[in-house]
Parts: sequence; C-alpha cells; structure tokens
Amino acid sequence: MTQKVYIETVGCQMNVLDSELVIGALRKNGFDLTDTPAEADVLLFNTCSVREHAEEKTFSALGRVQHLKRQNPDAVIGVLGCMAQKDQELIRNRAPYVDMVVGTGQLAAVPELVAKVRETRAPQIAVSLGRADAGRHEVEASFVSYDPARDPSMRPTPFQAFVRIQIGCDKFCTYCVVPSTRGPEQSRPPEHIWQEVRQLVDQGCKEVTLLGQTVNSYVYEAGDRRTRLSDLIAGMHDVPGLERIKFVTNYPKDMTDDLLHAVRELPKVVKYLHVPVQSGCDEVLKRMKRNYTAAYYREMLARCRELVPGVSVSSDFIVGFCGETEESFQLTMDLVREAKFKNSFIFKYSERGGTKAADRYPDDVPDDVKKRRNNDLLAVQNENSRLDHRAQVGATVEVLVEGPSRLSAKTSRDRDGAGLLQLTGRSMKDHIVVFDGPMRLVGETVRVQITDASPFTLYGTAEIAERVGVEEAREPAPVVPMAKPSKFSLPLV
Ligand code: 5AD
Ligand code: SF4
Repeated sequence: MTQKVYIETVGCQMNVLDSELVIGALRKNGFDLTDTPAEADVLLFNTCSVREHAEEKTFSALGRVQHLKRQNPDAVIGVLGCMAQKDQELIRNRAPYVDMVVGTGQLAAVPELVAKVRETRAPQIAVSLGRADAGRHEVEASFVSYDPARDPSMRPTPFQAFVRIQIGCDKFCTYCVVPSTRGPEQSRPPEHIWQEVRQLVDQGCKEVTLLGQTVNSYVYEAGDRRTRLSDLIAGMHDVPGLERIKFVTNYPKDMTDDLLHAVRELPKVVKYLHVPVQSGCDEVLKRMKRNYTAAYYREMLARCRELVPGVSVSSDFIVGFCGETEESFQLTMDLVREAKFKNSFIFKYSERGGTKAADRYPDDVPDDVKKRRNNDLLAVQNENSRLDHRAQVGATVEVLVEGPSRLSAKTSRDRDGAGLLQLTGRSMKDHIVVFDGPMRLVGETVRVQITDASPFTLYGTAEIAERVGVEEAREPAPVVPMAKPSKFSLPLV
C-alpha cells in the first residue's frame, strides 16, 4: 500500500521550496501526499526561526498531532528546517514524541531517516555541525543530489517555481538567526541552475523566482570565469517558453549597476526589486550591522529608479530593535514617507537566542511601543501603497494569471469552466491585479486595463474579455481550486 505523507510549512519562500524538494524525494520513494494528518504515515513540519511567533506556531502544530501518535504509534513525526537546526534539545523536551529532527542542510536524507526511524524505532537527529568547512561540503553535496527532485503539485501554481541559486548567509546582521540556521553563503554552479530552469520550463513552468538570502550577492567563480547574478539571468533569459524571471531578496550594499542594467534591458525580468532597508536611523543600522547608512540606501534607491525607470521597490522593516528611541523611529518614518515603496513588510523585533544582538544589547523597547510603531509605520506605508496603486489607474498591464481570487473560489458553482470568474495574477511590477475572465486564462499572460485601485490590489478589465461571447459570459462560474500564492507572500529573510 502507498505510504502517505503530510507536510506543514511555516516561513519564507526558501522553506516552501525545501518542502517541495522533500516531497519530491519522498514521492520517488513511493510516498503520496495527503492533506489529512490523521491519514498520514509520516507527518512533517518545516519550520522557521526568524521570529518567536513562527516557532510558537510550530509547537502548537505539533501539539495538535500528538494524539495521532497515540492512535498510530507507527506514524513518524519529523521537524525539519531552521528550528530543527537551532533547537534540537528544546524540540525533544517540548515534544518528546517527535521521531526525527532534520536541519536545513540534511533535508536530502529525509527518506533515509524515515526508513531508519521505522527500522530502529529510535529518534533520528541530523543537523549540521556548525559553520565550519564541513558545513560547506555538506552543502555542495546537497546541491548536486537534491534540488532536481521537484514536485509540481507542491508549487504555488504549476507554472510558477522557485529556484535556489544560493544558500546560507555571510552577512551576520546582529538580529538574525539565518547565518546559523542556514550556514555559510554558497552560490550554486550556474550550469546546475540553467539546467534546472530548462527542466522546469519543459514541465510547463513560465515564471521562475530565483532565491537567495542575499540573492544579489550571487557570484560563482570557476577558473577565470566569474558569473554574477546579471550573467546568470542573461544565461537563462532566452530559454523558449520561459516568460518571467524574478529574484529575491536583495542586499542593499550589493545592488550593482550591471544587475540594474540587466533588469532594464531584459524583457522577461520583472521590474520589481525587494531591497529591505530595516531602519532609517544610522545608529540602529550600525547596531544591526547592516553595513550601510540611510543616506547610502537613499542613493541606492535613486540609482535603482534612474537605471530602471518605473521600477517598483519594496522593503522590510524591524521596529523596536534594541535601543531604538522615538527619534530613531521617526527617522524610519521619514524614510518610509519619502521612499515610496510599493509595499513594506514590517516586523516587531523578536530577540533570537545565539545572535549578536541577543548577546550584546538588551531588548529594551516594550512590546506596546513596538506595536504602536508597527501601526504608525504601516499607516504611512499604506497611504503610499494607495498612491502607488492609484497611479496605475488608466495603464494597461501584463498579468500572469495565477487563478481565481479567493472570492471567486468561494462563490463559484458551475463545473464546465466556461463562465466568468474573478481572476487574480501579478503585473510585471509585482502588483496584484484582479479582473473578470474565464478559467482558461489561468496560466496565461493577458493585458488588463486598470480601472480602479485599493492600497493592495489593482482592478481592471482584461482585453481578452471582449472576445468572450455574451452566452459564455452568462454561464455561472465553475468550482475551481483557489490560487495558493498569497499564502506564501512572506519575504525571504
Ligand atoms: N525580529 C524581527 N524581524 C526579523 N527579521 C529578521 N530577523 C528578525 C528578528 N529577529 C525580519 C527582517 C527580514 C525579514 C524577512 O524578517 O526584516 O528582512
Ligand atoms: Fe543575512 Fe538577511 Fe539575516 Fe542579514 S537579515 S543575516 S542579510 S539573512
């Protein structure tokens, strides 16, 4: 009988990709995916450590499946990813029924570890030793054997895929746990990446999102050949069938002109840059060890906009970082007012054990102050998002249609797929666009004229709608699965 695996994923796109690869590898070993925990022979939790809240989410998810282990003692429960790397002891203490703890560098071994748990009935722990050279070798081995085990059913949509081009991080921002959970920065060989992109396109993929913690630091050197992110993108740009190339997340200091030229010149590259600034105050940036000043960031932003006219830019912020005074926070407010980001992801500082900030600086901003600053910053950003969206009204944008909107998925009734649905997708500047159209447009790129805007969404009329007959338009809408991507909209750390 086929074995069944259930998986829950918390965190960034890198985790979504890791889960896809784990499921890809398990399918090769005779497993099928289930979305019902009670049916599963193996239950996996792919975890995130970036904030305390994410860790608590995993512990409550583990709490919810504890009774399944009593009902079926043969079930294997595994904790994967960042928390597994960072908190093996804590997991074993708080959830002793967990059978398997597998770090980010060992995920390729999941099928083998499941087999070992069953054979020995002993818990299996596989994590990296640390950031020593041994860690780098593990990573190199996993690049070769691991990433090609793709599983289209795990993707946000069948025509969009994440592609890892780099793992780990060497920046060591003082608040961040990633350099220790994901290890040293490693850029993957360009040939492997190009081959993977071709393979994905052969499977029907139209959009790839290149992933790296500091994706624009990508560089691969072999002999006297040096491949930068701009070269990597140029090398995949002409793959027939590939329509869009995105990349996240950028590090401000590594935003070089060659990359910006590539974004401008290459038509398949999305005109959108996610470049987190984190704070607008130099003292805070220094304590965060971001290696730039607010003035540098402003110049970089101006350069992005000069070299890629019309580019949309988004950012991340941490409010209430150690020692952030009201004056420092106001500098961040000033930056947000001025910078006109398309959107910003704003987080309250969450102290992480083992980071330099936790060692050096007290977490001295009270939670209610963090909350207030978060709301204040969000209010300024929302107003800018509203203006940014309003400025699109009247424009015609190209939308890669991802699926029916949430609303449509809930209200639709008909099954033949001919009726008009409310569809959703993204423009080349990463705006979410909603419009009416038939189901057959899902996976296609359509031109949509923007007629209205809210702070988060553009509304419009698809040019294709004119070709939809009146009879067809009167058909009730079909029952269809909802587009998944919004679930995974958190930025990469
Ligand atoms: N507390 C709060 N937010 C954090 N981030 C990273 N580490 C922390 C932390 N300790 C935020 C940063 C990063 C985003 C993905 O998460 O803003 O860019
Ligand atoms: Fe690296 Fe980003 Fe974390 Fe800084 S915030 S240490 S750049 S992953």
